[in-house]
Amino acid sequence: MSEPSAGRTPRWWERGVIYQIYPRSFQDSDGDGVGDLAGIEQRLDYVASLGVDAIWLSPIFPSPMADFGYDVADYVGVEPMFGTIEDFDRLLAAVHARGLKLLLDFVPNHSSDQHPWFVESRSGKDSPKRDWYIWRPPAPGGGPPNNWISDFGGSAWEWDEASGEYYLHAFLKEQPDLNWRNPAVEAAMFDAMRYWLDRGVDGFRIDVLWHIVKARGFPDNPANPNWHQGLGQRDLLIQRNSTDQPEAHAIAARMRALADQYGDRLLVGEIFLPNDRLVAWYGTPGRPEVHLPFNFALIENPWNAEGVARLIADYEAALPPGGWPNWVYGSHDAARIAARIGEPQARVAAMLLLTLRGTPTLYQGDELGIGEVVIPPDRIRDPRELREPGLGLGRDPSRTPMPWTGNAPNAGFSTADPWLPINADWATRNVEAEHEDRGSILWLYRDLLSLRRSTDALSIGDYREVEARGDLLMFDRRHGDHCVRIALNFGETAIDLSQSGQVLLSTLGRSGRPSTLRPNEGLIFLAGEPH
Ligand code: GLC
Ligand code: MG
Repeated sequence: MSEPSAGRTPRWWERGVIYQIYPRSFQDSDGDGVGDLAGIEQRLDYVASLGVDAIWLSPIFPSPMADFGYDVADYVGVEPMFGTIEDFDRLLAAVHARGLKLLLDFVPNHSSDQHPWFVESRSGKDSPKRDWYIWRPPAPGGGPPNNWISDFGGSAWEWDEASGEYYLHAFLKEQPDLNWRNPAVEAAMFDAMRYWLDRGVDGFRIDVLWHIVKARGFPDNPANPNWHQGLGQRDLLIQRNSTDQPEAHAIAARMRALADQYGDRLLVGEIFLPNDRLVAWYGTPGRPEVHLPFNFALIENPWNAEGVARLIADYEAALPPGGWPNWVYGSHDAARIAARIGEPQARVAAMLLLTLRGTPTLYQGDELGIGEVVIPPDRIRDPRELREPGLGLGRDPSRTPMPWTGNAPNAGFSTADPWLPINADWATRNVEAEHEDRGSILWLYRDLLSLRRSTDALSIGDYREVEARGDLLMFDRRHGDHCVRIALNFGETAIDLSQSGQVLLSTLGRSGRPSTLRPNEGLIFLAGEPH
């Protein structure tokens, strides 16, 4: 699978690495305990020092914050808590001045219930914007129109007493779903995309893209035979009729056509689907859709060498010709990688992510190895946890503020009490302390990013599995005659590798020959002899 880059210059996002910033938790500049745009601007040198290529900002638009910005009340403005449009323009210029790109988070499936469109839509059945959202009468015997369940638990339908109908919300009732079957909705949303593209943003991460169209007639979703106690209510049903409809692909293709009018902009789609359906979102050669349908396989699967080898092989095999891969293991929605597998293995995971074929997305704070953060009950903020408590669905633990220093209150994040607690070990696990320590995980990330940047085999070479047995995963990345071999130890026992060749990087910071893989070690080396 080397075709995508063979014979032509790779596009910036093929070689590039994306870094996700969660604006509420990066840096507070105005002492309200919540991060903001000016704070991000202050910390751009740090972002640049990592060696990433693009920043994806979680939503910065005006929002009542029922879902912390994923409930948008104005698609073409800036949330006052985060700053002003002038702050945004300054940030964008500062990002570009450092040779970085900026992606915004576009939330097309739903708006806030405070968006003027919804306020108008809800005003009555005759409202000119009634059809901008999804309104239905009660089921024949009364009650919600069908059995669909919100991703955050409970019915996906909310009764509106005043206008006498239900409206659909795939997430919170404060996040009504827009009706993308209405061309006026598409036109308005495309205007919003143009607004930001005209301002110079380099693309979008598109929120829950596979949700945007629902099956006609709103048939019930089938029961999920694999549901068991401990899973959230969302998983009681298979979302067959509420997501992944063919018409949504046509919309994605039109989004792409819009982006392409602006040159080399990037569309990343948030899509949780099995490989065969995920890769359909690349589109077809004559009708491309998103450049990168997010590949969440590393988030959804257990961490072991043979399993990971299999998921890489399955994903590589599923990719359509020309479909450029991508990999993710952390986000503002997932438990932190170091909380899932511990720091020693989080280092191995970092080496995997940054040596796989395809665009990696990093999540802020993972480069510091932040692990489990316990959120005291009275500080829980995530509506998902508040609605379905105790199942481990809460997302606050991965959204805690960045620890910048051990020598200032609140780790230098804010002069005020932060909106979420900071990792308990912030006095030692912070940017400044890790910068001083050449053996830190922060430096491992920097070394991996710089090696990836300077090595075509790593950034654009092809992928070949060499061996997956027990705790060992070994693979090659090759570009032309240059071959780099990666060996990862998923366990705590040394593994005899019997390899020669020069070590380029070890997760344990050692040099020498790759004859043995130490416990919890990952190695990148020059493969001894050609094969
Ligand atoms: C996406 C976002 C998540 C949000 C949801 C609803 O999955 O990443 O944070 O809650 O969409 O917008
Ligand atoms: Mg602030």
